[in-house]
Amino acid sequence: MTAKILDGRKISKEIKQNIITETENLEKEYGIKPGLAVVIVGEDEASSVYVSMKAKACKNVGFHSETYNLPQDTSQKELIQLIGKLNNDAKIHGILVQLPLPKGFDENLVNSHILPSKDIDGFHAINAGNLMLGEDGYIPCTPKGIIELIKRTGTDISGKHAVVIGRSNIVGKPVGILLLRENATVTICHSRTNNLAEHTKNADIIVAAVGIPKLIKGDMIKEGAIIIDAGTRKVDEKLVGDVDYDEAVNKASWITPVPGGVGPMTITMLLLNTLESAKKSCASVR
Ligand code: GUN
Repeated sequence: MTAKILDGRKISKEIKQNIITETENLEKEYGIKPGLAVVIVGEDEASSVYVSMKAKACKNVGFHSETYNLPQDTSQKELIQLIGKLNNDAKIHGILVQLPLPKGFDENLVNSHILPSKDIDGFHAINAGNLMLGEDGYIPCTPKGIIELIKRTGTDISGKHAVVIGRSNIVGKPVGILLLRENATVTICHSRTNNLAEHTKNADIIVAAVGIPKLIKGDMIKEGAIIIDAGTRKVDEKLVGDVDYDEAVNKASWITPVPGGVGPMTITMLLLNTLESAKKSCASVR
């Protein structure tokens, strides 16, 4: 079997067309533009690239965007003060603090200072708790994009065996909960799982988000499985996923490329969450 490609760039483009239309309507009707503030501390090269991609994506759909590049020696107190200012800024509907933060920062504590209504990353304990409880709230962008990609295959997730590899708060844990919400049977594996292949070989859906390049080989995949690769590591200047693409493409029914699969969807879901927040702010002044 040769897998069909789940083209995150193409799907994102379609979704972004709707976002552009909704943004224009919001401006016409209420005179507001969705606004996103992105904060980065320090000079991590990969994070800086992601942050400028997020700012560019905002501009492309007509959002207001602000980027705060804070120096490496910024204190946690200063960062929290900036968040406080952004919480009170009516132009800003979403606040994103790019992770990872430099050593010494308490990421959960920093995120706890973002108003839950502006926490478009879904990392505040209130939003994470709502996800766990099955209540409404902001859903982390990469997991939200992954579920959208799986749905775009036309496969009914209900009853399928999904194996998630990775247990981060950003991807693995929330994607596991979202798959459960779709009635999948979910196994969460990680870097310390014994006999990983015994799990993956039984999976109808594999979501790899562990950050180990080419960990998932062709012989670890069931014929016809859906493969979602959220891994992104630079190897010899090339972006490589957690899945050995050249092997997996001959076993899977659908597969995401790296780059061009999950990455563009993450940014598009960030725009969607920011738009949702802007719409809610209009509803509250109606
Ligand atoms: N670092 C890697 N992915 C993300 C994300 O989705 N949000 C934030 N804030 N930081 C990240």
